[in-house]
Amino acid sequence: MPASSFDIKRIIRPNILGLEPYRCARDDYSEGILLDANENSYGPAFQTEAGEEGPVCSGAADALQLHRYPDPLGRDVKQRVLQLRPGVPSVDNVFLGVGSDEVIDLLVRITCAPGRDAILITPPTYGMYKVVASVNDVGVVKVPLVVEDGSFQLDVDAVIAAATGNPAVKVIWLCSPGNPTGTFLREEDVRRVLESGFGGLVVVDEAYVDFVRPERGQSYARLVGEYPGLFVMQTMSKSFGLAGIRLGVGIGSREVVGYLNRTKAPYSVSTLTLSVAREALSDRGLQQMRRVAQSLAAQRDEYLIPELLRLPRVGAVIGGNDANFVLCRIVDGAGRPSSELAKAVYTEMAENRGLVVRFRGADYGCEGCLRITVGTADENRAVVATLRAALEALATG
Ligand SMILES: Cc1ncc(COP(=O)(O)O)c(C=O)c1O
Repeated sequence: MPASSFDIKRIIRPNILGLEPYRCARDDYSEGILLDANENSYGPAFQTEAGEEGPVCSGAADALQLHRYPDPLGRDVKQRVLQLRPGVPSVDNVFLGVGSDEVIDLLVRITCAPGRDAILITPPTYGMYKVVASVNDVGVVKVPLVVEDGSFQLDVDAVIAAATGNPAVKVIWLCSPGNPTGTFLREEDVRRVLESGFGGLVVVDEAYVDFVRPERGQSYARLVGEYPGLFVMQTMSKSFGLAGIRLGVGIGSREVVGYLNRTKAPYSVSTLTLSVAREALSDRGLQQMRRVAQSLAAQRDEYLIPELLRLPRVGAVIGGNDANFVLCRIVDGAGRPSSELAKAVYTEMAENRGLVVRFRGADYGCEGCLRITVGTADENRAVVATLRAALEALATG
């Protein structure tokens, strides 16, 4: 089906289609003496006396005008997102939210009627899609990834059949590279889903996209001009090293971005967050992000994976290894994946050896798996040594 089959009127909930968004005087006038928003003209509490020496941050408070509400749309930050992701048509195709987690929540809220509609997910996948669906009383249709060959690619025919055969499904949620799979989804598969005749939204969560090997592919953000039903999510929490500022970036059609903007709380993204994001997305910030992402990917490929595979009870490193983590399978003495041993190793490392990884053995297709984040070179050496010691202690104990 052609890309134009996406029908915004069918996908956006009627209450959101008719929503009268919150407006403030600042939308029309932002210059002069501003007494329209009940802010405090004396400034932050820690610098109420003019000229008084304050804490370190008082200079920043002045420069950033922290006593004012933030810019609700962050257009200058969005402009910089266009530099990060070439091929995105305009700032009107970019949405900013309080981390991807808020973007996920808003996408569900604008598309799915509680108690009636559903999202489609492809397990094993990021846990928040299901949590957000439950919070919003929205159904979840599961079409597992192909796990038998360890590739964790899409079962494209099954995804299309489940989505097109069920009118309740409003959103297909893909994750590329996947969490916990680390697998970058193939472009031909993503395009097939987009061209399948499913008239709803296809979200591709690209939280880890900057760690993808160049030969594997690149962000699908460049396709949003081509497919109005595509919505790509990214975050400052991973490659930019800014999980603390809580900034999620959504890239989609102007229409979908418009409905997200109308629905979000107007000042959800803070001035501090916008200011740090501006810096991180500057030319210098982008260079630094790319340098660090490449170095983490090199640590993953040249040190962590080969060293993990040398450990006696690590049976395999599975998935695509396109993210800043690896998924390794712990096996028993007979070489069978063992979630029991993986869980015991995880607990032993966290409680007795001061090193925390993630147990993923309960996820579909991830029997016996631990997910290990690629850290600094020292941290990577520590995780290999600690895992070796924990495995030895448990295998012999
Ligand atoms: C696939 C995926 N999407 C989104 C997020 C959350 O991102 P944010 O920190 O922007 O809320 C995570 C966090 O681990 C993730 O793994």
